[in-house]
Amino acid sequence: MIWEPLNLGELAPDAVRVRVGASGINFAETRMRAGDYSGQELPFVMGMEVAGSVEQVGREVAGFEVGDRIFGRVRGAHAEVVDCDPAHLMPLPENLSFTQGAAIPVGWLTAWHALYTVGRMAPGDRVLVEAVGGSVGSAALALAKQAGCWTLGAASRNDKLARAAALGCDAVVNYTCESVSERVASLTNGEGMDIGLMTIGDATAHELIDSMGMDGRVVMFGSTGGRDITFNLRIGILNIQLLSMSISTSPAFMTGTMPDFRDRALPLFASGELTPVVDTVLPMSELVRAHTMVDERTHFGKVILVNDE
Ligand SMILES: NC(=O)c1ccc[n+]([C@@H]2O[C@H](COP(=O)([O-])OP(=O)(O)OC[C@H]3O[C@@H](n4cnc5c(N)ncnc54)[C@H](OP(=O)(O)O)[C@@H]3O)[C@@H](O)[C@H]2O)c1
Repeated sequence: MIWEPLNLGELAPDAVRVRVGASGINFAETRMRAGDYSGQELPFVMGMEVAGSVEQVGREVAGFEVGDRIFGRVRGAHAEVVDCDPAHLMPLPENLSFTQGAAIPVGWLTAWHALYTVGRMAPGDRVLVEAVGGSVGSAALALAKQAGCWTLGAASRNDKLARAAALGCDAVVNYTCESVSERVASLTNGEGMDIGLMTIGDATAHELIDSMGMDGRVVMFGSTGGRDITFNLRIGILNIQLLSMSISTSPAFMTGTMPDFRDRALPLFASGELTPVVDTVLPMSELVRAHTMVDERTHFGKVILVNDE
């Protein structure tokens, strides 16, 4: 990864130019950097989410003023300025800093899409969150708790499990040394989970599927640990649904998740009922260190890069 000057040129009429206050690190880009993520041409400007202030508004864009504090998904946010599609921007609640705002877009929108749009989460559901310390996992834990669900978080390190428990996770399991499905069976009287958020792949998929109860919905949104899994078709006896998703390609993301998130999640952030989970804040220049932290899997929540004021 290298820093170099880039001329953005004239702002497109349908875009909004944003001065970047902060931007989050994403697992996908660590894989793009490593060269094992398909579909990304090189070179590209990194940074998939932004919080900052509007610097210029394209002449066809309505609803934005210079100086507005905003946040959202974009490509190229590890920079001083970035041009954004306004459809992906949201007003940043007054009580949130740019650092906190940059911790929301990818992780929380993915968790919202997985739990509500795809997984049809309802109060009282039992929700299993794999990689509960991940940026998506930590957001999913908060959303499931806020919705009145019973949650079980799994992670590979006990310090992450302690953080999850402190945030209200009802049960925690270190999947490297304990069977998740056996814990689920004993904690639920054999009834199993209603929703299972699958993100690791090979190493944990069997345990997750074995943890599901009647009509359980498995929602696969990531494959951090490998893409090929096998499962036994006896899952049909329990009517288990295997669901998969990508917020980048799902038509329901723009028509369902985005408006739902604006209507329901933004007020919860504004009132303090939901709080972005920030692990570490680094200057923008420390991009390499930030990627190393995500590679090492020790973070809980989000690693954020900030520009000087
Ligand atoms: N479908 C979508 O639309 C969508 C959107 C955003 C993200 N994603 C995907 O969701 C996944 C999680 O994203 P995230 O931002 O939450 O990532 P993250 O913050 O980096 O968390 C990933 C966690 O996965 C766990 N993990 C288990 N096996 C791993 C392995 N072999 N390599 C790396 N990590 C491993 C680690 O936690 P433990 O060690 O504690 O298990 C790690 O900290 C990624 O695959 C990402 O590409 C998908």
